[in-house]
Amino acid sequence: MPLKRPHQHRDASPHLTVNPVFSREPIKVPRFELPGEGMDPDTAYQIVHDELMLDGNARLNLATFVSTWAEPQAQQLMAECAEKNMIDKDEYPQTAEIEARCVHMLADLWNAPDSHAAVGCSTTGSSEAAMLAGLALKRRWQHRRRAEGKSTERPNMVMGINVQICWEKFADYFEVEPRYVPMEGNRFILSAEEAVKLCDENTIGVVAVLGSTFDGAYEPVAEIAAALDGLQERTGIDVPVHVDGASGAMIAPFLDPDLAWDFRLPRVASINTSGHKYGLVMPGVGWALWRDAAALPKDLVFHVNYLGGDMPTFALNFSRPGAQVIAQYYNFLRLGFDGYQVVQQTCRDVATRLAAEIAKIGPFTLITDGSELPVFAFRVSDDITNFTVFDVSAALRERGWLVPAYTFPANRTDLAALRVVIRNGFGHDLGDLFLEDLRRILPRLQAQQQPHRDADDAGSFAHGAETKTAGRPAIPEQVARGAHG
Ligand SMILES: Cc1ncc(COP(=O)(O)O)c(C=O)c1O
Repeated sequence: MPLKRPHQHRDASPHLTVNPVFSREPIKVPRFELPGEGMDPDTAYQIVHDELMLDGNARLNLATFVSTWAEPQAQQLMAECAEKNMIDKDEYPQTAEIEARCVHMLADLWNAPDSHAAVGCSTTGSSEAAMLAGLALKRRWQHRRRAEGKSTERPNMVMGINVQICWEKFADYFEVEPRYVPMEGNRFILSAEEAVKLCDENTIGVVAVLGSTFDGAYEPVAEIAAALDGLQERTGIDVPVHVDGASGAMIAPFLDPDLAWDFRLPRVASINTSGHKYGLVMPGVGWALWRDAAALPKDLVFHVNYLGGDMPTFALNFSRPGAQVIAQYYNFLRLGFDGYQVVQQTCRDVATRLAAEIAKIGPFTLITDGSELPVFAFRVSDDITNFTVFDVSAALRERGWLVPAYTFPANRTDLAALRVVIRNGFGHDLGDLFLEDLRRILPRLQAQQQPHRDADDAGSFAHGAETKTAGRPAIPEQVARGAHG
């Protein structure tokens, strides 16, 4: 029997199932309106799947810090937990228990004086964790000021201009004056000396970043804490430190165990990390931890009872997927300390080797070399005037490599760099292929009479490392452009 054409005989449903999905696709697929009637699931799947082929290849995305590879077993567990809502702690008590275990493991990893006294929670990522940590700092400061009979107007927060956009958002959304320490010369991160200069009695905290988004460099947390100890001795002003360890809090414990950046420093009140960065989970999980209950004011924690039982919650969201938290726990069990160490060391080895090779090519100068975060930034050397980092980024993109090029913030807006983030799943072999492509594009770029692209042509995929202006709150344009976070 000849097959009927579905477009001509729309009611001929018995034959639809034997037709290839493409011949079942409606002539017009609505993009911005809900279709009047539905379609076969295979057809809908194929349409969506095909459209997504236009996305970049996540594994070649050297811009992102976020995991783009996971073991099949982790993916299986995530699929098994897809329907679990993290907030329904009474309905899914074991998922809640697993979240609490992860908090304890992290508290231990970050050397909390008593890992059972530390408090914390999972979040959607470091951005939500930053909001929660910032709120805790603000509330602690308000309580202290009220107790002293002093004004709670005009709180401020001190940080380097290199902070990720989430801190600008925190300052803007929660009305805290951001005091940015600008870059100076070859100092691209916060220094202890400059941080202390900006602190006063209204400073709710200093944010130190373990692994700058711009170039992967660690900020000197211990020096900053010591300088704040000095400030307290001199003036009585007691300023806590929050460590934004979005990436570094899952690198330093394994690769730099002697570096004191964590709860070993009494001044460190709280730490955040992105479970979905070097915690090695697919996107959707972060962690916020406080050294003890005193560091997280009780009045920020809400209690809900309509899900059954009394449930404390400190979060900006309510419903949230539980699968990523399960995957985090899977990774902790699966890899253990040794496994994480091996994975992170491999990333650092790939990063440092790649950086060293790039330095040898000729026209590039390293800004960082991958020896802190497995991330490095490099620029076009001063004597190169006929092509820019933006040309390099565009040429690499022709081969599928996503390498962001961006200008640095004040006072180094003259500096434009490329950044490469090495993650689990990007081994030496892919690194060699990347080097080959970088070498291959150079003769063409070197033959250019003049640069073809500048900062205006840069894609918005610098993962939150876009330019900001000292002393300005969140830049709406960046938010609107959907700066990666
Ligand atoms: C230092 C730092 N903090 C915070 C963030 C935001 O993290 P998330 O994407 O998990 O919200 C990033 C993202 O790159 C980052 O590098």
